[in-house]
Amino acid sequence: MRTDQLIRTFVEYYEERGHRRITGSTLLPPPGDPVLFTTSGMHPLTPYLEGRPHPLGKRLVNVQRCLRTTDLDEVGDATHLTVFEMLGTWSLGDYGGPLSLDWGYGLLTEGLGIDPGLLHATVYAGDDRTGRDTDSLELWQGLGVPVELTVEDNWWPKSVDDNEGDGPVGPCGPDSEIFLWSGDGPPQSTPTRDDRWVEVWNHVTMTHRRLADGSLAPLPQRNVDTGLGLERLASLLQGKPSVFACDVFDPWRRLVPPLWPLEEPDLRLVSDHLRSAVVVLGDGVRPSSTGRGYVLRRLVRRVLTVLWRQDASRSLGDLPEDLVRHTLDHFRQDVRPGDVLRTLLDEEQRFGRLLERGRRVLARPRFQGPLSEEDFHYLHDTHGLPRDLVTSLRQE
Ligand code: SER
Repeated sequence: MRTDQLIRTFVEYYEERGHRRITGSTLLPPPGDPVLFTTSGMHPLTPYLEGRPHPLGKRLVNVQRCLRTTDLDEVGDATHLTVFEMLGTWSLGDYGGPLSLDWGYGLLTEGLGIDPGLLHATVYAGDDRTGRDTDSLELWQGLGVPVELTVEDNWWPKSVDDNEGDGPVGPCGPDSEIFLWSGDGPPQSTPTRDDRWVEVWNHVTMTHRRLADGSLAPLPQRNVDTGLGLERLASLLQGKPSVFACDVFDPWRRLVPPLWPLEEPDLRLVSDHLRSAVVVLGDGVRPSSTGRGYVLRRLVRRVLTVLWRQDASRSLGDLPEDLVRHTLDHFRQDVRPGDVLRTLLDEEQRFGRLLERGRRVLARPRFQGPLSEEDFHYLHDTHGLPRDLVTSLRQE
């Protein structure tokens, strides 16, 4: 099943169950939001999860593009991307967690044809703040799906550090996660002990609001917020070993290797970061030295560092326009591919000049030994050389 078909099946299934589709949109949160990028489908819905009535009612469904920089170092493994799409459903003070799980199970098994024997669930075991989530536990037991109980892994957001983007305050609560077996043989063990269990869908019963001091206050209404990683489920349904092999990456796999022969891990990083950079540019961000623009700059620089490690003549200006257009079209972004390529090329040239200057400055006798904090400050403030760049230049 291709991703566009998967999106349609998902949305129609929930529309048949009274959900209204809200427009999934830009990666940029509204002004005033302290977070740089939208990190999950629920993010734009925060005011409604906290009690404001939503104009489309109490049952919503959505496809939301998300960007997570917390996962940057995991990019290249089988399941993480920087920009990904999240299919989401919400009950705003309407039905509860067990019905949400029951519908989720129905969609996965009957709607998408997944063998029920390949599913595993996790459920919140309870701690001194709130009790065990027995409703979800009983639902899964009734469906015959094996359950693992955990504490930290089944509270969303897991912790402030794990979810930098979701901030320290906001709606939270116990969740029940659905895992799909990706191994070759029959399923074994449990999700926390065997990573061939891949998390595909998280159903959060939002019961509380986390306050700035870390304490929990009950929400005026109980909500259910679910999120399903599109590319992750698509790759499993398509029998592919990683998200990079699902249909979303077909054009990247076809067009990048003839241009730049790369080993698989580098191909994954280059494809992920360039695709993310195109989407971020498509949403109107420009490279800069702070905030969103700096995230974009880091993505582009990571790509160039990989490309130039083998061949310094490689240039982003050679990227086929078709590749950029394919990504912009997929995300319905009305931007000219040529403009995106020009910005990438400008950024490349800027980085090239910075590297040259960096090498020259770092060759001075003063910087031959270990660098002090003062040296790092000087290199940054006087020569515009960020710490991570200095560190990587010294490893050359
Ligand atoms: N907010 C939850 C998540 O991001 C479910 O949508 O996983």
